[in-house]
Amino acid sequence: MRVLSAALVLAALPTAFAVKAHDFKTCSQAGFCRRGRALSSRAKENPAWRSPYVIDASSVALSSDQAVFTAVVKSQLYPEVNFGLDVRIHDDGVVRVRMDEVGGLRQRYNEAASWALLEEPKVSNAIQWTVAKDSVRAKYGPKNDVEVVVAFEPLKVTLLQGGKEQVVLNGRGLLHMEHFRTKESVAKAREEVANPEEGLDTDDSQAVMEQTLPRTAWFEGETEDGWWEETFNSFTDNKPRGPESLSLDIDFPNHGHVYGIPQHATRLSLPTTTGEDAYYTEPYRLFNADVFEYLADSTMSLYGSIPFLQAHSAESTVGIFNAIGSEAWIDIGRPSPKSTTTHWLSETGILDVFILPGPTIADVFAQYARLTGTPALPAHWALGYHQCRWNYISSEDVRSVQKRFDEEDIPVDVFWLDIEYAEDHKYFMWDHKLFPDPVEMTKDVEAIERKMVVIVDPHLKRVDDYPVYKEATEIDVLVKLKDGQSNYEGWCWSGSSAWVDYFNPKSWDWWKGLFKVDSQGNSWHWVESTVNTYIWNDMNEPSIFNGPEISMPRENIHHGGWEHRDLHNINGMLFHNLTAQAVKERTDPPRRPFVLTRSFYAGSQRFGAMWTGDNLGTWEHMAVGVKMVLANNIGGFSFAGSDVGGFFGNPEPEMLVRWYAVGIFSPFLRAHAHIDTKRREPYLLDEPYKSIVRDILRLRYTMLPVWYTAFREASVTGLPVLRPHYVAFPHDEAGFAIDDQYFVGSSGLLVKPVTRKSATEETVYLPEDQVYYDYFSHHAYRGAAKGKNITVPAELHQIPLFIRGGSIVPTRERPRRSSPLMKQDPFTLRIALDQDGNARGELYLDDGETYSHEKGDFIWREYTATRPGKKSRSVRIHSRNLATQKPGEAVDGVALATYDSANDFARSIAGVRIEKIVILGMPAKPVTVTKVGGKTQMEWTFTPGVAASDKKEGTASVLVIKDPKLSVLMDWEVIVHA
Ligand code: NOJ
Repeated sequence: MRVLSAALVLAALPTAFAVKAHDFKTCSQAGFCRRGRALSSRAKENPAWRSPYVIDASSVALSSDQAVFTAVVKSQLYPEVNFGLDVRIHDDGVVRVRMDEVGGLRQRYNEAASWALLEEPKVSNAIQWTVAKDSVRAKYGPKNDVEVVVAFEPLKVTLLQGGKEQVVLNGRGLLHMEHFRTKESVAKAREEVANPEEGLDTDDSQAVMEQTLPRTAWFEGETEDGWWEETFNSFTDNKPRGPESLSLDIDFPNHGHVYGIPQHATRLSLPTTTGEDAYYTEPYRLFNADVFEYLADSTMSLYGSIPFLQAHSAESTVGIFNAIGSEAWIDIGRPSPKSTTTHWLSETGILDVFILPGPTIADVFAQYARLTGTPALPAHWALGYHQCRWNYISSEDVRSVQKRFDEEDIPVDVFWLDIEYAEDHKYFMWDHKLFPDPVEMTKDVEAIERKMVVIVDPHLKRVDDYPVYKEATEIDVLVKLKDGQSNYEGWCWSGSSAWVDYFNPKSWDWWKGLFKVDSQGNSWHWVESTVNTYIWNDMNEPSIFNGPEISMPRENIHHGGWEHRDLHNINGMLFHNLTAQAVKERTDPPRRPFVLTRSFYAGSQRFGAMWTGDNLGTWEHMAVGVKMVLANNIGGFSFAGSDVGGFFGNPEPEMLVRWYAVGIFSPFLRAHAHIDTKRREPYLLDEPYKSIVRDILRLRYTMLPVWYTAFREASVTGLPVLRPHYVAFPHDEAGFAIDDQYFVGSSGLLVKPVTRKSATEETVYLPEDQVYYDYFSHHAYRGAAKGKNITVPAELHQIPLFIRGGSIVPTRERPRRSSPLMKQDPFTLRIALDQDGNARGELYLDDGETYSHEKGDFIWREYTATRPGKKSRSVRIHSRNLATQKPGEAVDGVALATYDSANDFARSIAGVRIEKIVILGMPAKPVTVTKVGGKTQMEWTFTPGVAASDKKEGTASVLVIKDPKLSVLMDWEVIVHA
């Protein structure tokens, strides 16, 4: 059967899972990583080690507004080489340190930040540098206790807060920017050194370097290790530009935990890679790669790279965004439990480091979001359930899968098509034998407002009857071979293929034009599509089956003459960015795009969602997937998930059920499976598994208001949608390493997904002296001031899910087949009283698909419950308009300043009401429940139990107010008099 053709490209699945580690380099197989680690070892062994990089004091210059300072940096080993240093402080206190070789043989790659940054950050003109004899300094911050010190000799940059070192660059003297040189000059110099009697021509500028050679060995090593050429497996990388790597130590002398630098299958608090007790032996690698059957505990690189790291202690949080576009390796050490060292090695590029001073965790997220952007607010439906597999093989298959979901009353929003929809894997071109009626098929899916997602990969089949390839060739936007002229050819699903160079601006409008669904215009575009067909971008590392490390040769040439090695890690983001723009712009007015990407970089959060790639159907992968999604949230990219069920293998029912429960607490929820796996749509499960999965998915749908509100907050503040303990409780050290339970946004929901086989109980950490209610049983658990572990039931049908006392959670509890059908559904408010009898929550809603919210079409409500007096047992519940309360809020500022409560969206849901209020932990049975200004008593039932203010555990008291006839968008007050 034709649909199996792609499977044949893959090697047959091995009986046991095994990563093909030999396809990918270890540090010792990458010349610059080897050199960087050797440099670090030499530094450790040499007590007299001192960085040769110094600032030429006479060159220090301040910009006219004194906000930026520049200086010439020299390496004492190569006095004839100049480096330019530029240090500036942004409005929000972020320090940007840049260094580049000046007047060298060529320009180092200097564009990484420009692809990642939202815009050029504003330099503060309130902050001024002072120049001293041995350093340049600036002091600033709301308390004027942040200080940046740039020392001259050796060059060292320190950020201090309250006199305490927070971040130190080149404190250990590992900075090394390998300057450009020619093979001939170095060879000649070596020869001269070997035979000094042959004499030196002192007029020759080269001679200076030659004389220094013996002196460089202590720093650069004896040999030209991997400088000019490298071979890995059968691939030779001729490095026409010679050595140009960058080594930099970035230390956090007062922070004992570091997080971030996704993507790695590892713990959230990153384990060490250097030092005697190092957990790993290999540094963390950032090199976007398609790693077949990746390991569940490793520093190996995966599909995406975000060179953003947070360092955290109970006192402060700081961040580093190191704008590297090339391959990079990061060693992490922990000289003492409260301090962390990092050593960054990158193959090419300038030094461009952003130091985020915090000092709070929220500050760091906001600072990073100001640099690279917040996550885009997704379409509301994109938070529903996505059903995928490789492959639904025909239109009829899609229709019957949809029918089965409906017959079994299982909610789903999106059906996905993998590569087999496309004739010979020519994306956009339907295989009409299997999909004779793609538009009609999509219309059938759209009938209950569901959507389709169809895959578009970046490899273009090199055949003349493929208009996309033909046009790309004609307008000359394909990635070039090292000669810079001929188009590169490699192998992927489509056989012999070419790749569009999205760095070439000429490709942009053309690519966007392909997605137009109307029949206007001359050039080819996708008329066999609809505006409800969204896109999946896969294989964009790029994955190339016959390329080095399953990717593109590093010598290939992109727009501007840059080598692929310079921008490898950014490449996938551009494809994603352009596709998202294409989807957005195919309608007028635009609608929010949905594009899933496998490869990503800093800034990708602005363009859509990501998933963790080809995970295995094992418990280890299920567990590490949770940590990887958390790490992505730390990296600013909240819209993340893992393949539910595991991509490879056939999960047993227990595993599949647990995986669904993991999935519904991921921002992106999609089930997916490899072509060789058995079908495993939830309706195929036997009882009781099927009903459990139905309930799990319905739970996700009831909580869509929570997810959407959390996404709205993330899209405004940069705070992540998933919040691990160190984010939610930044002063509680006991929580800093916890990465198997987390909070959803600011909702107060705490979940611990079960990722162990045969579990019947789970241990859950409660970080504070507060009541936490089991979401389902209403059992009130008590934490403790110093944190406490509790044991909770976790049978297969149970999810350890808690509402933190003090939270109000809005849900929509009517089961529907898809999320758009919930638009007019009423809400339930679950009020979880804290120990003082108070609670608070938010609800954000808009039309979920357009950009009219940017003009003010939304509602943003605050619900509060308060105890009127210290001794009172009553509760007052308020609904308030947050949009008018916070007119100055960032990003949405314009909309909020002119906010009109009677906006179009609000009017469209004017009839939507609160159908139920549930109060957990009421201190006493009410006497009356009335709306202020209302005449009649509300209907309610009360089940006695433990009150929030009791210090006891046990089932909480529950007050249910039935149909209180309250509008979701009006201000009101209800008094529960007790
Ligand atoms: C690799 C992706 O990771 C996987 O999800 C997909 O099914 C296959 N490519 C085929 O497109």
